[in-house]
Amino acid sequence: METIRKKIAIIGSGNIGVALAKGLVKAGLFTPADVTLTRRTPANLSALAEAGYQTSSDNRAAVEQADIVVLAVLPQQLNKVLDEVAGAIDAERHLLISVISGVSCYDIRQQVGAAVRVVRAMPNTAISIGHSMTCVASAQASEEDMALVEAMFNTVGVSIRINEELMTSATALCACGIAFFLRSIRAASQGGTEIGFHAHDALKMAAQTAKGAADLLLQLASHPEQEIDKVTSPKGCTIAGLNEMEHNGFSSAMIKGIKLSAEKAGQLYTQY
Ligand SMILES: NC(=O)c1ccc[n+]([C@@H]2O[C@H](COP(=O)([O-])OP(=O)(O)OC[C@H]3O[C@@H](n4cnc5c(N)ncnc54)[C@H](OP(=O)(O)O)[C@@H]3O)[C@@H](O)[C@H]2O)c1
Repeated sequence: METIRKKIAIIGSGNIGVALAKGLVKAGLFTPADVTLTRRTPANLSALAEAGYQTSSDNRAAVEQADIVVLAVLPQQLNKVLDEVAGAIDAERHLLISVISGVSCYDIRQQVGAAVRVVRAMPNTAISIGHSMTCVASAQASEEDMALVEAMFNTVGVSIRINEELMTSATALCACGIAFFLRSIRAASQGGTEIGFHAHDALKMAAQTAKGAADLLLQLASHPEQEIDKVTSPKGCTIAGLNEMEHNGFSSAMIKGIKLSAEKAGQLYTQY
């Protein structure tokens, strides 16, 4: 992909911010010199500074030098950051991208100016290996802005455009969802250990089986029940195990958990 001739500042360069920066550079969208990474302790970014990224603790200066500003601090750290940078934001020049859970584009525009273009993106931690599911939304960014943000997050996985009102739901399904699927794999591996496998083999077997199941859906564009029908023979062992799990609330537990996470995700920012 062609290099974007813009400068980008990532305000809050922790897990998500650094993973995004690396993905953008790896995909050739930006050079390290065009990326400024900030955090309060920039010494923790020394390896990236050596790799050619600009690193700093000065958020305002980073914004002044940038065209695209990614906000990637924790929700409770956002107000302080916006106080610092609001005066440096130019609605004509800057595009703001927030990955912060529970904070709306409107919340941010209230603090930096109603005319500022803000896009919200919700990645997950698989961003660190380039396999994030990222949902993007904005009420007032241009088509060009949205295409740019999608292209950026496509360098670290797959992106999908949604209505902003569904962002908290996207947080539950995709960002929290990583933990739900990881716990499912862990549970399967514990079952595997109980039926005879060493823990490390059981975990590898469960993880690769989960990956295969996901790939069946993604690569064949098929439906889970279609694939389940292929492995459930009459009076067989798969349907026996599956029905036992359902009698114990397997699908119901997942659905209820996702609903509760979505409720909580909607309250993350308003608590501060
Ligand atoms: N993790 C996920 O699954 C996930 C998924 C989607 C979205 N998100 C959202 O992404 C955001 C970042 O999450 P994360 O997991 O990357 O968190 P994180 O690793 O804690 O990163 C936050 C970074 O912000 C820096 N920071 C704090 N205050 C700052 C300030 N005043 N100026 C500049 N930098 C500052 C921190 O570094 P210092 O302490 O050195 O300042 C830290 O490196 C959160 O809002 C979260 O809701 C997370």
